[in-house]
This record gives sequence, structure tokens and C-alpha cells, in this order.
Amino acid sequence: MELLQALQDRRSIRKYKDTPVGREAVEHLLEAARLAPSWKNQQCWRFLVVTDAAKREKILAGFGDDNPGKKGIAAAPVTIVVCADPAESGIENGIHYYVADTAMALEHLCLAATEMGLGTCWMGLFNEDLIRKGLGIPPTFRIVGITPLGYPDQDPKPRPRKQLNEIAYFEKWGEN
Ligand SMILES: Cc1cc2nc3c(=O)[nH]c(=O)nc-3n(C[C@H](O)[C@H](O)[C@H](O)COP(=O)(O)O)c2cc1C
Repeated sequence: MELLQALQDRRSIRKYKDTPVGREAVEHLLEAARLAPSWKNQQCWRFLVVTDAAKREKILAGFGDDNPGKKGIAAAPVTIVVCADPAESGIENGIHYYVADTAMALEHLCLAATEMGLGTCWMGLFNEDLIRKGLGIPPTFRIVGITPLGYPDQDPKPRPRKQLNEIAYFEKWGEN
């Protein structure tokens, strides 16, 4: 699959089949994440892959029932908790780059998953402390994102995006 096709096909998937995802497939996705760029190439990210049902419950405890993606985590065979050590990244102009580093790695993973016919959903609305403690993640690590991973049981339409002329300017701010 061409990269552009994966960019066009990727959706946030919130319904999953219970078909298992093998370790080899997961490692392929982690390899895609590993290749992401990062602050001074310090690669502050860590990935915790969870398939154990009891551990999944610890993750679910950190999500509100009003989070539309929660059911996806409950159904998907795999959950990936994407963490970062801020000390392995930098701050410039007040921007904490561990978030950018980790987001890029997670998006690499999501796009590679699309290519393999797998679904993901970048999730950021959760109780970080509860999940960190529940999974035994060291306190020095931040949880930047969590995604379910599995075979989609839905085919959502593309969500709308702003038009290019609303978000991109040429030569002068505000001009297309
Ligand atoms: C940083 C971030 C946090 C998100 N958090 C959640 C979340 O907690 N729950 C959820 O269901 N979706 C979450 N999403 C998914 C977005 O709602 C989704 O990407 C957006 O609506 C566009 O839809 P699409 O991904 O299918 O193109 C998050 C996405 C991002 C990038």
C-alpha cells in the first residue's frame, strides 16, 4: 500500500473483532514506531503491549464511560500504552518535545497498522495516574497515548477536515 493510501484509509476504530493479532504483527508495528524522528534522536518513547485481560481491566478503569473509544479497548485483543520519559527529550520555547516525539512514533504505528488491515484509535482522554499505577509504569514516565489494536469491526466514513486554504498560507500569513 502506498503511504498516501494509508493516510487516506486510516480511521479511528472503536469497534473490533475478537480475532487475535499475533506477536509478529505487533512487532512489525513497533518497528514502524521505532523509526520515527525524535528530539536529538533520543527516542524517549516506550511501548507497553497489553493482551492480558486483567491488565486490560486496569487500563479500562482509567477511562470514563463517556469516552467513545473505551468500548474499542474492551473489545480489541491488544492495547498499546505509549509512554515517554520527558528527561530523554527536550523543552524549547516552552514546547515539551516528548509529546511530539511520542506522537510521531504512535502515528507511524497507526499508519503501519492501516497498511496491515488493522485498526487503531489514538486515545488521550484518560486518568494517567490510575493507569500508570495499575500497570506498574515507573512514575518518571508520562503516558502520552493509548491505542487499541485489532481487526476493525466497522468501516467509518472519513471525518471532515478543514480545507487547505484554512490551514496553509503561502508567503504571507493569511494568504493562499
Ligand atoms: C491526541 C488525540 C487524542 C484522542 N483521544 C481520543 C479519545 O480519548 N477517545 C476517542 O474515542 N478518540 C480520541 N481521539 C481520536 C479523534 O477523535 C479522531 O482522531 C478524530 O475525531 C478524527 O477522526 P479519524 O481519526 O477517524 O480521522 C484522539 C485523537 C488524538 C490525535
